[in-house]
Amino acid sequence: MKVAIWFLVGVWVGSGDSAALDMADAQHLAAGRAIYHEGRLPSGRPLTATRGEGSRLVGAAAACVQCHQRSGMGLAEGANVIPPITGPALFGARLPDGYAPRRAPGMDFRDYPFRTRAPYNESTLAQAIRNGHSNDGRRFSILMPRYTLDDAAMKALAVYLRSLSPQRSPGVDERVVHFATVITPRVEPGDREAMIGVLNACFAEHALDQTKGPSGNAESGDRQFWKLHVWTLVGPPQSWHRQLADYHARQPVFAMISGLGGEAWSPVEAFCERAELPCLFPNVQPAADAGAGRYSFYFSRGLWLEAAVFARQLAARDSTLLRSGRVVQLVGRSDRAQRAAEMLTRALADSGVPVETWRLDNDQDRLSGLAANDALVLWLTPTELAGLMQRVPLPPRTESVLVSGILSGMQAAPLNPAWRKVAVLAYGFDAPARWDQRMQRYLRPWLKKYGLARADERLQGNTLAACNLLSEGMLRLRGNYLRDYLVEWVENYPETMGLASAPQAYPRFSLGPGQRFSSKGIYMVRFADADGQRIEPLQDALIVP
Ligand code: HEC
Repeated sequence: MKVAIWFLVGVWVGSGDSAALDMADAQHLAAGRAIYHEGRLPSGRPLTATRGEGSRLVGAAAACVQCHQRSGMGLAEGANVIPPITGPALFGARLPDGYAPRRAPGMDFRDYPFRTRAPYNESTLAQAIRNGHSNDGRRFSILMPRYTLDDAAMKALAVYLRSLSPQRSPGVDERVVHFATVITPRVEPGDREAMIGVLNACFAEHALDQTKGPSGNAESGDRQFWKLHVWTLVGPPQSWHRQLADYHARQPVFAMISGLGGEAWSPVEAFCERAELPCLFPNVQPAADAGAGRYSFYFSRGLWLEAAVFARQLAARDSTLLRSGRVVQLVGRSDRAQRAAEMLTRALADSGVPVETWRLDNDQDRLSGLAANDALVLWLTPTELAGLMQRVPLPPRTESVLVSGILSGMQAAPLNPAWRKVAVLAYGFDAPARWDQRMQRYLRPWLKKYGLARADERLQGNTLAACNLLSEGMLRLRGNYLRDYLVEWVENYPETMGLASAPQAYPRFSLGPGQRFSSKGIYMVRFADADGQRIEPLQDALIVP
């Protein structure tokens, strides 16, 4: 028995598989990871390097991750290409995407040197990293720093690079990439149907592209079929993490796409972060602390963006909103309203603008006592607002009345004509006329093509935009199915992603490294007439806090 086990272990260790790391390798791996990600040497001292023009880089600023990214797949910024430095890219005979440059007879084709050089070995790699030239003798551009690394550190780094992203992330089979969309309890059945309808059609469209076969261009690497799994959650939010983990254990997925939920999305985000699973643009109200991780992306911060923009505008003091008085916020019963009011209070704390928080239930009768130079902010749901209209049919004579659009239902906010005349609404969506044009162009023909009825077009448009963004990102992976690489595509290439996001309801798509909300500002609007739902901007520009 003992002999058999030793035999097995021997085979296992000897196989050279990266899973078979011995103790020394595990130590190298940890030390190499610290160099790559943090710029920390095995001795505990900071990593140092010089740039071509002589400047010095120290510690985290010198860390490889700054340029070559977490996945190790690098980046392309205009003409500057930061090459992949994963194990397969450096030591493999071919690049991981099976790239083969096209050559026309008689043409002198100069490819990027990292695509044509021979595989590195540990010694040529060390020279490259220390002296800044590749194994065919070509000097690297000044973008690639020259590193001071002793042999132990170099060994650790090489072990780490060898381990970097050699395989696919979970959720990818030989032929199929699996995705999930999550639906929390108590969503409207119509919304569920609308979202799933769009996702199914988008996935079918992708499959259709597949059956046309590879386009002949070796670089279009996304040749897998996609499969959508609908993960429906039940019961209280505390139990969702467990349910998601069970779903994921049964069928791992490469990413989560879109999704439908109410306000309690945090457990889903927590799961995405723990599972290192990209979760792209769900139809939800993000929690107040959402987006702090790496893997969860949203279209908008929603209510919290409204609070930040209100604070910015009120603190400015030069606007028509508040010149000299105080801010009084009337806060409804919902947790979200109270949270938003706290945020506004905090954001104004250092501005010198006095803020008072009044409770709807206790204080609504005090509104008539507000001074003409005060500003009133309403954090109320439609039901609460309708109740207030009954009780206080005429607005106070304040300088301004700011209304949370997200809580009150945007243009449909149940305001009396007299209130409507003075109200300024936070409007996080794109201007109605422009939005309608985009729906006309990018959503409605698409729905028609797939026989889908028009439902909540914001929901349908956002879902389609999320799915388009996924398609665009997946295509760019060129067959390198790494979750981190997908995240890097989404956050680093807003211009590539911009068109894909065209059917979304928000003003514009922009993201950058570390950013997790694509929509950065809101409009302040007022009602064009006292009884209609038509709105016009108070000022034309998007206000970014
Ligand atoms: C400031 C950005 C930056 C940082 C930081 C950086 N690199 Fe690079 N690296 C580059 C660029 C740009 C190139 C391509 C140079 C060229 O081909 O002219 C490159 C090329 C390389 C190559 C050659 C790849 C090939 O296929 O020939 C290796 C290996 C490499 N880097 C390793 C590292 C390691 C290891 C670190 C961290 C210790 C690191 N780089 C940090 C920008 C960077």
